[in-house]
Amino acid sequence: MNESHPLKSAVEKVVGAVTDHDAVQAAEIPGVPNSLPPQLEEPTEPREPLPPKPDQTGPETVSPTGQPTGASQDQMAQGGEYLTTAQGVRLRDTDHSLKAGPRGPVLLQDHHLREKVMHFDHERIPERVVHARGAAAHGVFQAYGTASNITKAAFLAEGVRTQVFVRFSTVLGSRGSADTVRDTRGFATKFYTAEGVFDLVGNNIPVFFIQDGIKFPDVIHAGKPHPDREIPQAQSAHDTFWDFVSLHTEATFHTMWNMSDRGIPRSFRMMEGFGVHTFRLVNAAGETTLAKWHWKPKLGVHSLTWEEAQIAGGVDPDFHRRDLADAIEAGAHPQWELGIQVFPDTPEQMFEGIDLLDPTKIVPEELAPVHPVGLMTLNANPSNFFAETEQVAFHVGHLVPGIDITDDPLLAARLFSYLDTQITRLGGPNFAQIPINRPHAPVNDMLRDGFHQTAVHRGVAPYRPNSLDGGCPFQAGAEQGAYVEVPLEVAGRKVREAPATFSDHYSQPRLFWLSLSPVEREHLISAYTFELGKCYEQAVKERQLRVLANIDPVLCREVADGLGLPAPEPTVPLADPAPSPALSQVGREWPLDGRIIGIVADETSDLGVVGAVRQAVLDGGMTPLVIAPKGGMLGGTLAVQRTFATARSVEFDAVLLAGAPAPGDDAYGARDAKAGDGGTPVDPRVLLLVGEAYRHAKAVGGWGTAAQALQAAGIPAQAPGVVTGQDGEGVLRDVLALLPLHRVWDRFRVHPDVA
Ligand code: HEM
Repeated sequence: MNESHPLKSAVEKVVGAVTDHDAVQAAEIPGVPNSLPPQLEEPTEPREPLPPKPDQTGPETVSPTGQPTGASQDQMAQGGEYLTTAQGVRLRDTDHSLKAGPRGPVLLQDHHLREKVMHFDHERIPERVVHARGAAAHGVFQAYGTASNITKAAFLAEGVRTQVFVRFSTVLGSRGSADTVRDTRGFATKFYTAEGVFDLVGNNIPVFFIQDGIKFPDVIHAGKPHPDREIPQAQSAHDTFWDFVSLHTEATFHTMWNMSDRGIPRSFRMMEGFGVHTFRLVNAAGETTLAKWHWKPKLGVHSLTWEEAQIAGGVDPDFHRRDLADAIEAGAHPQWELGIQVFPDTPEQMFEGIDLLDPTKIVPEELAPVHPVGLMTLNANPSNFFAETEQVAFHVGHLVPGIDITDDPLLAARLFSYLDTQITRLGGPNFAQIPINRPHAPVNDMLRDGFHQTAVHRGVAPYRPNSLDGGCPFQAGAEQGAYVEVPLEVAGRKVREAPATFSDHYSQPRLFWLSLSPVEREHLISAYTFELGKCYEQAVKERQLRVLANIDPVLCREVADGLGLPAPEPTVPLADPAPSPALSQVGREWPLDGRIIGIVADETSDLGVVGAVRQAVLDGGMTPLVIAPKGGMLGGTLAVQRTFATARSVEFDAVLLAGAPAPGDDAYGARDAKAGDGGTPVDPRVLLLVGEAYRHAKAVGGWGTAAQALQAAGIPAQAPGVVTGQDGEGVLRDVLALLPLHRVWDRFRVHPDVA
């Protein structure tokens, strides 16, 4: 470790001198639990709490009212060498209740027992009603200044750097559900701007299920588990979901995105983000422009295969949150460009025939290009999940001058909903004072008191007008940076109706179908077939087939065939839109930062070559994981991260074989069912690993005797994306040349009618 490593000096302050190799490691392989490795024996010397790991940070230490305090983040953490009560009184024993004799009754006067259990009893708060499962990171946004002509938002002015906190999530599942379920992903960003907090609360899908927020409880009730048995968890493959969306056909486009590969992202780092609604931007001259927000990942958009998603749900339910945290810890800081599509603010709020107030419609990028306006880099992991990721409170109504809303009826309901739910979730109205939610701009409101008030307000006149506090706080004018709504005319009859332009539910789903590559269409067909195949009621399946018939006859026929049902005829004329290539994720090349390369080796492998390959992977900004028959040090020199028993191919973006390992000592069914009854010359778990990687169209490479293992796994030596040779580093080079495309797409066979 580098002598000047900041963590080393921080840890040294706490524990005294540390040597490079027994203490703080800027670990090559992410996942280190704490900043100092534990000793084997139970520690006997008290010490101050350790500092966070180098990849971690916490909320800024501004005051509850947004003032800089200059305090270090340690001052929000626990301190002191000894265990205390919540009142700071040192404790001698927290392992035994106060009793009348060792076998006697526990005494009511045990105030420590009372405090400890009282607090434990209240450790849980309600999970979010939607988006309960999430992971988050800190970062920075740097503006290019390219939006300054259309918005006066200060954080979008050239060169301005703004701290951000981003939370990614699934929608349907509970807090403990698996990461890789088929679902929409939330992508919520809090910008701590100099003008107050701006939240961009978006998804990884550019459209929504419903056009009017009054339907939100309906779609969520339909998607959540059935109310009687509370199954299934975190997924849409069940009767109530398809019952609803087959009747409420404005959900067709969003549902189609869910059934596409976008519903099972490879990583949060490899997702696009969308603000969905059209917003109204205002510049310094008061001119307005309509705009849609887009996040474009620098690593490209990539997805899992459905089988990978299902395997990961079992072998690593934390697949996405681990990937995000590990990538940041490894220094592969994910980046997104923020972009906007812009449209003239005309009275009808339409663009090229597309209703900009309809959140179930996209504007294809070929019609309105996405203009980059800044770059976001996520560079630090939270140091406490509950304090930060769980307590963060986003709200679409957190707007700054220069960004206003439109009359999208979905957005209107959201403007009510977020604050409403957070009162309950965060236990009262003062959640803006929780450290992660505090603005980094001075707060001078007249909101007072309430549960969990942590500000100590001064003055006697939190009302307006007043003279006792000198009339303060004063209202600002636009010239002092006040938020001023765009003064628009509003008129209309009071009705419960949608505009006629909202009634087209099929032309954009058809546009999507026509824009996907053949492999992506195959995935769409299989996802619909899987989900409807999980439904019990035939009426629901038949009704959804009618919806599919209005999108495309091949899609409908192939799904109907899989369900064993006849394919219905369309009930509307099929649209003939120009495809939008931007909607497909196949065919472009992307960087490899933070990719995971599995290297299978055993004692017979040339460990010098394995070490060199491993180092080359690290030097390329990726993470190598050595997979061996058992843990520990291979050949006494090479640390093993995975064993044949613990590894599954879903973890790796590519798999390399440094030979053809013979069956390990535990390669029999009673010890590891994956090994079956053994009896193969190569360890059966290695054959499974490489066979799965091959089936999922991942790059596979090997040197030494690896060709034998590939042959034993039934992998043709000449198949696309299979690299063999005698030079390990050469094999690695060829394998890495395949990775920018993410998968070896040619390996997937496609039905001729779908191509
Ligand atoms: C374009 C449509 C929508 C998008 C993109 C969206 C996005 C999100 C995201 C990303 C979150 C998670 C925020 C976090 O990480 O803490 C969230 C939470 C939530 N959303 Fe939405 N949502 C949409 C529509 C709606 C609607 C229509 C409603 C209600 C009428 C709603 C109610 C909620 C609620 C209650 C939460 C939980 C908030 C909390 O507990 O902090 N959403 N939404």
